Amino acid sequence: MKHEGTPNGAVVPRGEGAGAPDPGERPSRHRFGGLSGKLLLLTVLFVMLAEIFIYVPSVANYRDTWLMDRLTTAGVAASVLAETGTIAPRLQEELLRTTGAVAISLDQGTRRSLIAMSNVPGDVDFVIDMAVVTPFSSIANTFQILTYRGDGLMRVVGVGQMGHTEHVDVVLPVRLLQKDMLAFSGRILGLSLVISGITASLVYISLQALFIRPLRRLTRSMDRFAENPEDTSRIMAISGRRDELGEAELRLAAMEEALSRTLHQKQRLADLGLAVSKINHDLRNLLASAQLFLERLEHVPDPTVNRLAPKILATLDRAVSYTQAVMSYGKAQERAPQRRLLRLQRVCDDVADVLGLVDHDTVTFEVKVDEAVEIDADPEQIFRVLLNLVRNALQALEAERDAALVRRITVEAEREGNSVVISVSDTGPGIPENIQKALFKAFHSGSKHGGVGLGLAIVAELLRAHGGTIHLDTARPGTCFCLKVPDRAA
Ligand SMILES: Nc1ncnc2c1ncn2[C@@H]1O[C@H](COP(=O)(O)OP(=O)(O)OP(=O)(O)O)[C@@H](O)[C@H]1O
Ligand SMILES: [Mg+2]
Repeated sequence: MKHEGTPNGAVVPRGEGAGAPDPGERPSRHRFGGLSGKLLLLTVLFVMLAEIFIYVPSVANYRDTWLMDRLTTAGVAASVLAETGTIAPRLQEELLRTTGAVAISLDQGTRRSLIAMSNVPGDVDFVIDMAVVTPFSSIANTFQILTYRGDGLMRVVGVGQMGHTEHVDVVLPVRLLQKDMLAFSGRILGLSLVISGITASLVYISLQALFIRPLRRLTRSMDRFAENPEDTSRIMAISGRRDELGEAELRLAAMEEALSRTLHQKQRLADLGLAVSKINHDLRNLLASAQLFLERLEHVPDPTVNRLAPKILATLDRAVSYTQAVMSYGKAQERAPQRRLLRLQRVCDDVADVLGLVDHDTVTFEVKVDEAVEIDADPEQIFRVLLNLVRNALQALEAERDAALVRRITVEAEREGNSVVISVSDTGPGIPENIQKALFKAFHSGSKHGGVGLGLAIVAELLRAHGGTIHLDTARPGTCFCLKVPDRAA
């Protein structure tokens, strides 16, 4: 398969992914519950919301126009009256029919004359003076009329025609205006639904094309890669788009590439590790046989042999313990801690026993742990933690030659709430700064006694498994490790 470079150096297979059908494609769980579905709903909602803001002033405006129309029509009749002094009954009827009015009269200041009237009974519930209409009063009255229940009348007063001073007074059934306003609202609602439907569909379609499809491609690629991360042909193919999604593709491809490379390296290291432990295993057996031969040599009455044999034996001893340490580290991870409540003081006593510290010639071992201090930990693992720390201190103290030096190792512990805090300190030379950085990493040793550099790595691993912590307290002279072991969660 051909590969091509990407801007960030990731190597990706050509023609993979983009548009290519994926055999392992999973059906989408979302459809309308997904992003685009949600956006579809939101768009409809927002367009409707926007329509409300448009609807309120426009329905009020509709009311004003409707009323003004009635006044104008009545005003025309009024001007006929003003000129002729009378209106024919046929014209009156026509006037009432076209305006829907119950009564129309003209107010000329000094004189008030009735132009037309039908005998429809009812109370006047609203009086609307078109000369003093403000946007607010108009909106308020619009909603009063829209929600009006009853068969009452309204009186509308205003100047009937431009340039005239006479006031026209029209009495109309409220229902008439209400009916027209409701019809108008219905039209606006229908229109809003059509607009929001169209907008939402357009948003949905463009979202599908712009986001959802590329996102699905991204997820599919992740799934495919996750199935076999070591297969570099499964790395995300770059589509070349320049937006945020293109950026995400680039990052994902780079990450998959790095992950794949790391996995390859790890696999090689694991193979190497296996080989090393096999060699180690045989080496240990060979060393053990060499030890046996040497022990026999010790009895040969030769002064040179007698002088050198113990030294070679000690060196072989060290080599054997080295191979063992490497092998035990190479084994699988530590088992999960099996925690019990322990008396910490007893554990310290065991450590002293094993290390020969009970009546040591030069080193004093102080356990400042109250008998009552109980720790919730795996007995064997917490023992190994303390053993490693105390052994390190002992090795550091024993390496010192000056007889006047104080050689003391102190273990202190107390309970602080749900944790036990332990400190292991000594009066030795302290830990050189250059090895402090990688102190808890495996195979970092600064010892002259042939240590492998695993002790503290194991200590840190065991404490982590207990949810605990360890750190080196550099404020004190000598060496002081502070440990914290929390109890199991209830
Ligand atoms: N109490 C201490 N005083 C001085 N140096 C210490 C002390 N504890 C640890 N160190 C330094 O930290 C290094 C790392 O310790 P660690 O226990 O991890 O490995 P090691 O003792 O060298 O080997 P191993 O424990 O695997 O036999 C030691 O080599 C030593 O230089
Ligand atoms: Mg050690």
